[in-house]
Amino acid sequence: HDTEKGAYPHYMLKEIDEQPAVMRRLLQEYSGKDGAVTIDPSIADAISEADRIYIIACGTSYHAGLVGKHLLETIAGIPTEVHISSEFSYNMPLLSKKPLFVFISQSGETADSRAVLVKVKKLGYPSLTMTNVEGSTLYREADYKMLLFAGPEIAVASTKAYTAMIAVFAFIAVAVAQKKGTTLDFDLIHEMSIAAQAMEQMIDEKALLKEVARDYLSITRNAFYIGRGLDYYVCMEASLKLKEVSYIQAEGFAGGELKHGTIALIENGTPVFAFATQENVNNNIRSNVQEVAARGAHTCIISMDGVTNHADDRIVLPKVHHALTPLVCAIPLQLIAYYAALQNECDVDKPRNLAKSVTVE
Ligand code: AGP
Repeated sequence: HDTEKGAYPHYMLKEIDEQPAVMRRLLQEYSGKDGAVTIDPSIADAISEADRIYIIACGTSYHAGLVGKHLLETIAGIPTEVHISSEFSYNMPLLSKKPLFVFISQSGETADSRAVLVKVKKLGYPSLTMTNVEGSTLYREADYKMLLFAGPEIAVASTKAYTAMIAVFAFIAVAVAQKKGTTLDFDLIHEMSIAAQAMEQMIDEKALLKEVARDYLSITRNAFYIGRGLDYYVCMEASLKLKEVSYIQAEGFAGGELKHGTIALIENGTPVFAFATQENVNNNIRSNVQEVAARGAHTCIISMDGVTNHADDRIVLPKVHHALTPLVCAIPLQLIAYYAALQNECDVDKPRNLAKSVTVE
């Protein structure tokens, strides 16, 4: 049964493990008989007709939206902004002439996001909801809908919905690029199945990730994640995951921004995790790691095979297409948070003060 833990001690662990299967399900749902990426043509039309996409979401879904922005801009060439729902409501930016709003929500019930949907509908703008729950409020009220096909997500900390959202954005971006007649230099279906396999390989590295959690996070009250480009977005999610399940104060920073203030927090032994999966900023992030290491930080580099990596990188991820790296990074970031939570004897599936879906504004 989808909603039972089975042999798993926690839903969070079960849901982390399910991610490669979710990727494979999405590959089926969003490809046609000819093996090409296929989404609802009316959605591809609506997106290509918009002059700007506004992604609206909260928490982990917001972090998936940041990756989505990168994919929509770099693959489909559509200007995209990402906004936190509760900020957008009261501090609306100047809108473009033909906006399309994309709501991302695992539950489809997040009140802050719904408030924005109600507002943009009143203004007469088209909306698309990407959700895991068919028939949810955001699903029903939007003009267009796409499902995440992740299966029920029970743990309060979102895991498989995050990677499903990123994958769906990749399908949207490629479908829109195809519609525009853009020639792409990669085959998403092929690259996505490689990513699913890489995720599986990282899921098999639980012993290593548990050891990393022990070595870096067993006695600390704080930790930092640093990265550049897509890795920066991954760091924001890594720190949220760590905070919510282990109660260790964590922040995700753009590697180059540290020296503008945050580096003052680095002391002897401060854990700093660095994601280094992007070749174009590889030297930069590695020098950021050196900057913090020189000030005593306990550094852990998470790099990727096929991208310049060093013999002493603690975790080396299997190589995937550079636009899909967040899918693979998700596994170590989630498992490190999970094992840190166990170490701290936290209630992994139901962290204090949190609800699975936040239905109040
Ligand atoms: C994630 O681990 C959170 N518990 C939380 O940030 C969540 O992603 C957020 O509340 C948004 O929920 P939704 O996707 O159901 O709208």
